[in-house]
Amino acid sequence: MIIIKFGGSVICDKEKPFSFNKKTVEEIVDEIAIFYPEKKFIIVHGGGSFGHPLAKKYRIRDGLNEKNIIGICKTHEAMLMLNKLIVEIFLNKNLPAFPFPPSAIFIMEKGEIIDGWVKNIEEMLNKNFIPILFGDVAIAREKGVDILSGDQIITYLAKKLKPEKVIFLMDVDGIFDRNPMEKDAKLIELINEEIKIEADTGKFDVTGGIRNKIEEALKMPCQVYFINGMVRGNIVKAIKGEKVGTVKI
Ligand code: IPE
Repeated sequence: MIIIKFGGSVICDKEKPFSFNKKTVEEIVDEIAIFYPEKKFIIVHGGGSFGHPLAKKYRIRDGLNEKNIIGICKTHEAMLMLNKLIVEIFLNKNLPAFPFPPSAIFIMEKGEIIDGWVKNIEEMLNKNFIPILFGDVAIAREKGVDILSGDQIITYLAKKLKPEKVIFLMDVDGIFDRNPMEKDAKLIELINEEIKIEADTGKFDVTGGIRNKIEEALKMPCQVYFINGMVRGNIVKAIKGEKVGTVKI
């Protein structure tokens, strides 16, 4: 089984609220279709320009309060809309995509998932469905609700379901040693414990985001690819185990 994250910046134009990159998603799904049903897939998509602007507007990270309860529902609703657009693309290509809203599955505490019910996902997977999850709002023990990112869901699923690999689709070629926009930015081709130590000791000009991605990848009990989801053929390469983007073996 392979878990694929559709990063929000790949499926949406982050600058434009409620924009959906339909053609890009269609092309991504075409690459996945080549391997189905021989391989099983779980898809987790991000919030992109559907979830993030509303999560910010209604200050969901601050938790539930008397002012944002409707906003929390609207944010979840926006995620359901984005999910529907993605699921339709799978179904139109005859792939049995089946949505699982994470707010109905996971409980968080201090920004982490502390409990989840994955039995149904496992059973659907065994019956050849393609479960589709997404970044969502979720119950949080100390503050009522919180934002649950697709990346956190993937770390949890990877530990529980032990996939053969996890593939993160991004809008850049992988993980870089600094902001990829900078002139001298170099792609990190291989992630291992040494890279993490170099990141920790500041050899790389790493932002929290990069360090966090490296740390999460190291925790997963499988191969992890970070690839550009806008470049056609990359998904096929990653599924086949060929050299592309950043890999944690
Ligand atoms: C965010 O999910 C979900 C909401 C804002 C409701 P992610 O954190 O996985 O989304 P992207 O990939 O950054 O857009």
